[in-house]
Amino acid sequence: MLKGKSLIDPNDLSTSELEEILILANDIIEDPKKFCKCCEGKLLATLFYEPSTRTRFSFEAAMLRLGGQVIGFSEPNSSSVAKGESIADTIRTIECYSDIVVMRHPKEGAPKIASLNASIPVINAGDGGHNHPTQTLTDLLTIFKVKGTFENLKIGICGDLKFGRTVHSLIKAMSHYSGVSFVFISPEELKIPYYIKKEILMKGKINFIETDNLEESIFDLDILYMTRVQRERFFNEDDYLRLKDIFVLDNLKLQKAKESLSIMHPLPRVNEISVEVDSDNRAIYFKQAKYGMYVRMSLILKLLGLK
Ligand code: NCD
Repeated sequence: MLKGKSLIDPNDLSTSELEEILILANDIIEDPKKFCKCCEGKLLATLFYEPSTRTRFSFEAAMLRLGGQVIGFSEPNSSSVAKGESIADTIRTIECYSDIVVMRHPKEGAPKIASLNASIPVINAGDGGHNHPTQTLTDLLTIFKVKGTFENLKIGICGDLKFGRTVHSLIKAMSHYSGVSFVFISPEELKIPYYIKKEILMKGKINFIETDNLEESIFDLDILYMTRVQRERFFNEDDYLRLKDIFVLDNLKLQKAKESLSIMHPLPRVNEISVEVDSDNRAIYFKQAKYGMYVRMSLILKLLGLK
C-alpha cells in the first residue's frame, strides 16, 4: 500500500510496489489524457534547496498534467530558510498548505528529517551525495521500456561514483534483480563508497568489478550509465579540475560497444558524453528525461492514493 508513504530511499519500495509504479507509468504513457483530472484540487509543494532542471520541472509538469497545482521555491533564500528556519518547522508549515512535498537538499538526510516531521508524503528529490530515488524510478522505467527486463543485465556505471547520488540509488534498486552485474568505471578518488559495497553488493552477492578504463570495459555492456563529476561536492577546486574530463564517451570508443548497448545519463551532461554521440540510436538520455515525468505522475498518484 503506497498511499500516504514517503519515498526517501529506493529501498523504501518493495519490488511489488516498484512494479505497481512502473505499470501505472506505462498506462499513463499509453493514454495520458485519461489521467488529466486525477489530481484536481490537490497541491504539490516543491522545496528545492539546490539547483535542478529535470527533477523540478518534471515533478511540476507531472502534477499539472494530472490536473493538480504546484507551489514552492527553487531559490531557498527567498523563503524563511534565509532567516534560519529549521527543516522541521518549514515542513510543518508547508503541510498546512499542500498534499504532498518534493524536497531536494544539499545535506544527506534532510528529506528524511522532513518526512519524520510531516503528516503528508515527502519525496526525496536528491539529498547531497546520498540518494535520488525518483531518478532511479526514471532509470528503471527507461531500462524496462528499452530492454523489457531487469534481469541478466551487465551495467557499466562511469564517472563520479563517490558523490553521484543517482548511482547509489540505481545500484540499490538494480541489486534486487537476478543476474545483474556491475562494472564500476571511475578514477581511484571517485570510487563507490564502501558502505554501498558492503551493505548492498557484498550482502546481496552481486557480481561487480572496479576499473579505471572505459575503453576496455565497454565491449560487453548492456547499459552504460554515464555521470557528471559532481563539482559542488568537492572540497578542493583543483581536484575537480583534474578529474572532470577524465572520461569522455565519443563515437570512437563506442565502436567497441554492442549494437544493443543503451547509453543512459541522468543529466545534466558537462563533457562526459561528446555531443556527436547524441545521434547514435544507442543514446537514450533524452528519452530517459521524458520518462521521468511519467514515472513521477505515477508516483504522485500512488502516494496520494488516487487513480
Ligand atoms: C542528477 C542529480 O541531481 O543528482 N540530476 C538529476 O536529477 N537528473 C545528476 C547530476 O546532477 O549530476
